Order: sequence, then structure tokens, then C-alpha cells
Amino acid sequence: MSHIFVTGGAGFIGTNFVFDWLKDEHANGIVNVDKLTYAGNLMNLASLEGNPRHQFCEADICDRNAMEQLFATFSPRAVVHFAAESHVDRSIHGPGAFIETNVRGTFALLEAARSYWSELKGEARERFRFLHVSTDEVYGSLEPCDAAFSEVTPYAPNSPYSASKAASDHLVRAYHHTYGLPVLTTNCSNNYGPYQFPEKLIPLIIANALAGKALPVYGDGQNVRDWLYVTDHCSAVRAVLARGVPGETYNVGGWNEKTNLEVVHAVCDLLDELRPDPAGPHRRLISFVTDRPGHDRRYAIDARKIQRELGWTPEQTFESGLRRTVSWYLANEKWLESVTSGEYRSWVLKHYAA
Ligand code: NAD
Ligand code: TYD
Repeated sequence: MSHIFVTGGAGFIGTNFVFDWLKDEHANGIVNVDKLTYAGNLMNLASLEGNPRHQFCEADICDRNAMEQLFATFSPRAVVHFAAESHVDRSIHGPGAFIETNVRGTFALLEAARSYWSELKGEARERFRFLHVSTDEVYGSLEPCDAAFSEVTPYAPNSPYSASKAASDHLVRAYHHTYGLPVLTTNCSNNYGPYQFPEKLIPLIIANALAGKALPVYGDGQNVRDWLYVTDHCSAVRAVLARGVPGETYNVGGWNEKTNLEVVHAVCDLLDELRPDPAGPHRRLISFVTDRPGHDRRYAIDARKIQRELGWTPEQTFESGLRRTVSWYLANEKWLESVTSGEYRSWVLKHYAA
């Protein structure tokens, strides 16, 4: 069986991608390479235990020797690179881990991929791909009337997170330009959906609302993000992997610009409908708190290139995607409890003790 490597496949988007891929792509198995940081959760993948099409390898992408060994062992036909430190607020408190994983880790992975690919021959060499998953945050912040980010918008990252992702994008680009490595890059807007760690806005609001805690909104709540349901991001990655042109970048977005306050209101209203609180409407818990330093005001994605060239469009509207998301968290409160209590770490220790 041939394989693809998925890095970061125990995180939020990676988990959704693994399930999505195994559901449909019958020819290729997955080698899931993840270091299991606080954001990686093997419990997400428990239903895949014993599935010969999914192999989990606990490894750090910064460890070039380990990466080279994995390439030699599995001879993947592609790499889909999700692994990263991904939370802006954490990058403000501690940028070091972001430089380590996002920059040095991507560099180590590129080096291992290059040395593997340079030895491939014929069709295997022709069809190999390195798909780098990046973010719209590399383009910086938009004014209300500015046009949305396109693939030719100059980079202007503002946080340690976005700067580290921009650096990794540049390395990926350079490996194509200099060495001919067949790379693809996607720059996607804010994702939401099942399995998102409750440090990001939407799951944090759901978790706090269920616990009757304050719902923290930074600044005036008027910052704008473009929201994409996670399985739509997964289908975009698959389209780019299958049909994207090496060396090209593709912007991925949901055409769903919302202020943070609109998002929080929408979550509260869905919870009022699906899990009413006898104490009153969930909006009563909203609390405006000190703004994030350097907080980008607006992101918006022009996703016309991927639609025009690869025929990709999102399936979910913001309303349908948010309803699925809130319903998933309500049906998976144990998951929420376990990730917030750190219980999943003991599960991993217990499960893999042997
Ligand atoms: P996440 O934080 O939920 O998951 C990251 C995963 O990477 C975790 O499983 C973690 O254990 C793993 N990881 C971290 N450091 C590692 C290392 N050194 N070696 C191996 N594994 C490591 O992140 P996510 O939200 O799923 O994002 C995945 C990718 O998509 C990231 O590259 C991110 O920049 C990008 N992205 C995310 C969003 C979003 O809204 N979440 C939007 C656009 C792009
Ligand atoms: P987040 O989910 O952290 O994603 P990003 O910073 O990558 O866009 O935050 C989304 C938006 O929500 C962002 O403008 C910051 C804001 N936010 C809050 O207002 N309160 C919160 O508690 C969090 C985590 C985010």
C-alpha cells in the first residue's frame, strides 16, 4: 500500500483530515507524524486503532534523522504538512516554540523530503508532492474597505505566530525555486469545527458558556475574521494535492466575514436553542476584556483562484457549519472535559505503556 505523510494529524485540522481521507481515498494509507504537544490528542483517533491504513508515529518534525528514517521506511508519495504551533496568544507569551516548530521544524522536514525526493526515479519522482498548510495571517491586517487577500498580496505578518508561518512559507517557496522540490502551499482563513482545542475563539466560547463562565471578547469585538468549516478546508487540501500546480499557492476561504461579536452572538443563540440555560440567555455572559497586543483588525480571503483552477468551493455556510460545530461539542462534552482537564495525556500514557 502506498502512503502519504500527514504531520500534525492528531491536532484539530489534522484529525479531521485523517478521517476525511480514510473515508474516501482508498488507495493510500496515512502515516501520521505528530509530537503530541498539548494540542495533539491521540484519543481523537482511537476509532482508528487496528486500521492498517493509519499508522501513528510519535515524532518531532525538528528531528531530521527521525524524519529521514520515516521517509526511508514508508516511501510516501506525498507530505501534507499541518504540524505547527498554531495559537496567536501563545505566540505572544512564548514565541520560542513557534520559531522552533514552524521554522526549524519545517526546514528539517523540507531537508528530509528533499533528500528522499532527489533519490526517486521516474513516476515516483514525478508525482511526489510536499503540501504546506499555511494561514491567511501571513498577509497582515486589512482596513475595512481593502480588497481581500489574494495570492499576490505582499506578506506583512504581525504576530510571532504569523511571522513564523511566513518564514516557513518562504522556505517552502525557496525549495521549489532552488531545488525544484514539487511543493504546494495553501493559505487558509480561520477554521472551526469538531476537535478544535478550546483555546481558540469558537470552542472557548462554547466551553465557557456550558460552564456558566464569562465569555471573553477582546477589545471592542469588531475584529473581522473569515470563517471556514474544517471539512471544507480538508477538501480544499485534497483538491490542491490532486490537481494543484507545483510551486503555486492557493488561498482558501469561506466568503464568511464576521466580527468576533457576531460570532459570539451566533454561538450564544444556538446554545439558547439547543441547550437553554435556566439562568437566562447565554449572551448575558459576554465580557469585554483587554485587547490582544498587536491584534489584527481584519482578515478576508479572495478564494477565486482555487475555485477557477481546481473547481473547489466550500459546502458549508457559516450557519450550517456553526450548527454542526455546536451540536458536536454538545454531543462530545466528555472530549471537552478530557482536553481541559489534561486527562487525555494520562490516557496516552496508559494506552501506550506497553
Ligand atoms: P493544532 O494546534 O490544533 O494542531 C497542531 C498539531 O501539530 C498538534 O497535533 C501538535 O501535537 C502537532 N505538533 C506541534 N509541534 C510539532 C512538532 N514539532 N512535531 C510534530 N508535531 C507537532 O493546529 P491546527 O489548528 O490543526 O492547524 C494545523 C495547521 O493549519 C497549522 O499549520 C496552522 O498554521 C494551519 N492553519 C490553521 C488554521 C486554524 O484556524 N486553525 C487556519 C489556517 C491555517
Ligand atoms: P483565535 O481563535 O485565537 O484565532 P486567530 O487569532 O488566529 O484569528 O481568535 C479569533 C478572534 O477572536 C481573534 O480576533 C481574537 C478573538 N478572541 C477573543 O475575542 N476572545 C478570545 O478569548 C479568543 C481566544 C479570541
